Amino acid sequence: MKEKVNFSSILEKIRDTINSPSSKNEKLRGICELLRDSIPYYNWVGFYILDETGKYLVLGPFVGEKTEHVKIPVGKGICGQAAEKKETFVVQDVSKETNYLSCSPEVRSEIVVPIFKNGEIVGELDIDSHTVSVFTGKDRKFLEDISQMVSELL
Ligand code: SME
Repeated sequence: MKEKVNFSSILEKIRDTINSPSSKNEKLRGICELLRDSIPYYNWVGFYILDETGKYLVLGPFVGEKTEHVKIPVGKGICGQAAEKKETFVVQDVSKETNYLSCSPEVRSEIVVPIFKNGEIVGELDIDSHTVSVFTGKDRKFLEDISQMVSELL
C-alpha cells in the first residue's frame, strides 16, 4: 500500500532549502534528495535545464541511477515532449509510450513538469518511479508548486 505523503511539510522544507545560503546547484540537488528521501515511490529525481539555443535540455542536479540522457533534443522523449508542448506530462506506464527514452529498465512510470520564467520554459523537474500508475493529481499539483518555487533559482 502507498503510504500517505505529507506534501505540505515537504514544501516547507523546499522553501527552507531555496532560502538557504547554498549555491544554486546545491539547492537544486538538495531538493532532489529531499524528494527522493521523503517519497518512497520517487526513485529518480532530477532537473533538466534548457540550453541557450532553446533546442536541448541539459541534465542538471539529480539523484538516482546515472543516465545516458544528459542532452535531450526538444520534442524527444517524455522530457522533450513536455518542453515542446510546455505542459506537464504524466506517463502511467512507460512501456506503452513510443516517444520515450529509457533511463533504466526498472522505471515503470514518469512525470515531467516544466519550469517557467516570465512565461517561457527554462527547465524541467523529472521524476521516475519503479511503480506503474503511481502518480496522482496530488503529485502533479505538488510538483507544479515546486517548479514555481524553483523558477526563481533559474
Ligand atoms: N525518460 C526520459 C529521459 C530522462 S531519464 O528518465 C532520466 C524521457 O523519455 O524523456
